[in-house]
Amino acid sequence: MIAASATNTIAIVISLIFVVGWIVYAVMNRSAGKAEIGSEIELAANRKEYYDDEELEGHRLQRMQLLGVLLLATITIGLPAYWLAEPSRQHNTIEGKANRFISWGSGLFAPTAEGGFNCAGCHGGMNGAGGAAPYTVTDSKTGEVKAVTWKAPALNTVFYRFDESEVRFILVYGRPFSPMSPWGIDGGGPMNAQQIDTLLAYLKSIQIPREDCVVADANPLNCEGGHLPVTEQEKIQAAAQKTVDDGTYGSIGEALFNLELSSGAYSCARCHTPGWSWGEPGQTGSGAFGWNLTGGATNTHFATEQEMINFIKAGSKYGAKYGIQGQGSGRMPGFGDLLTDEQIQQIVNYVRNEL
Ligand code: HEC
Ligand code: HEC
Repeated sequence: MIAASATNTIAIVISLIFVVGWIVYAVMNRSAGKAEIGSEIELAANRKEYYDDEELEGHRLQRMQLLGVLLLATITIGLPAYWLAEPSRQHNTIEGKANRFISWGSGLFAPTAEGGFNCAGCHGGMNGAGGAAPYTVTDSKTGEVKAVTWKAPALNTVFYRFDESEVRFILVYGRPFSPMSPWGIDGGGPMNAQQIDTLLAYLKSIQIPREDCVVADANPLNCEGGHLPVTEQEKIQAAAQKTVDDGTYGSIGEALFNLELSSGAYSCARCHTPGWSWGEPGQTGSGAFGWNLTGGATNTHFATEQEMINFIKAGSKYGAKYGIQGQGSGRMPGFGDLLTDEQIQQIVNYVRNEL
């Protein structure tokens, strides 16, 4: 309301200036017009001598006609040319707006030294490849406080795990038990809704492309039903296999559950095992941010193994039913676009039979 009344005041002042200005002008004009009697004979434009007929109907007329033809040509050629360019102008405007959003978002994502909010500092640089952050944890039993380094997951795959509303939730409310603070105003952070939107646009722009996408497409998420390049999943398989071969883990499923693959993008343990994120894992799968999966209790929450597989592939959706009587919060990521069906099957075997 304050803004509206200020606008009103300004409008009234401007109108008053105009009205008073016109009155002053009219008065001055009237008195100026009275100057000398008969002076209009010399001053009036229509009393001055003009060109003779010869001149007017000769090259002067031709000049005017030529000017007319030129103006006509400008309209007949210029107007269609304008309309021809219109679709690409509109396209560029939309793209320009999208790029502006991305560049504003990248400004927010940048390290503190570059004036940003330091997402890059914790999450492994501007391409969000995954990093770590200093933090302090308090032992709930002894009350002992100690400094740790908390793993910050890769963000260049975050849209393969979560949909936009889920990532928005994470940005607005943070992960309150970790170095990831809330960034949105609703969560008590510094950023308004548009700043969060620009961050989302930036995060989309850094997702690693899917295999079946046209390279020219700036946004890999425009591709329907694509998957990460097989090589990425092969790399993960190879890394898991190595730890099985050297005896660290008993099975591929156990390795995939626990390993820090691609900076936490693929690990279950980072949410389901306490202490995993700062390198002091407690009992595997016994529950942290995500539920306790040990002792077979979680198996009873799903009618069949296939139901659990489907859940892990799609992740939870806010408000949607999962399993027998589960209701999702949107915080369990989907792994169907990150891991192969075979890999998910192996993880599920491990969760159902070994945890
Ligand atoms: C002080 C370090 C720090 C800063 C600054 C920070 N983050 Fe985080 N972020 C983390 C950590 C650590 C986690 C993982 C928390 C956990 O273990 O659940 C995380 C988690 C996330 C996640 C969830 C990813 C997933 O797969 O679980 C997203 C998305 C995210 N951060 C985006 C951002 C963005 C965008 C910014 C900048 C506005 C930002 N972060 C700033 C440390 C940070
Ligand atoms: C970003 C954190 C996160 C990661 C990573 C994660 N989960 Fe979860 N998980 C959750 C949360 C949170 C829930 C609780 C459901 C909800 O809030 O929607 C959950 C629920 C589950 C459940 C259902 C538990 C029950 O009994 O209701 C299973 C099973 C599960 N996760 C398995 C996995 C597996 C397997 C992986 C790795 C492939 C994994 N999770 C990775 C956070 C995570």
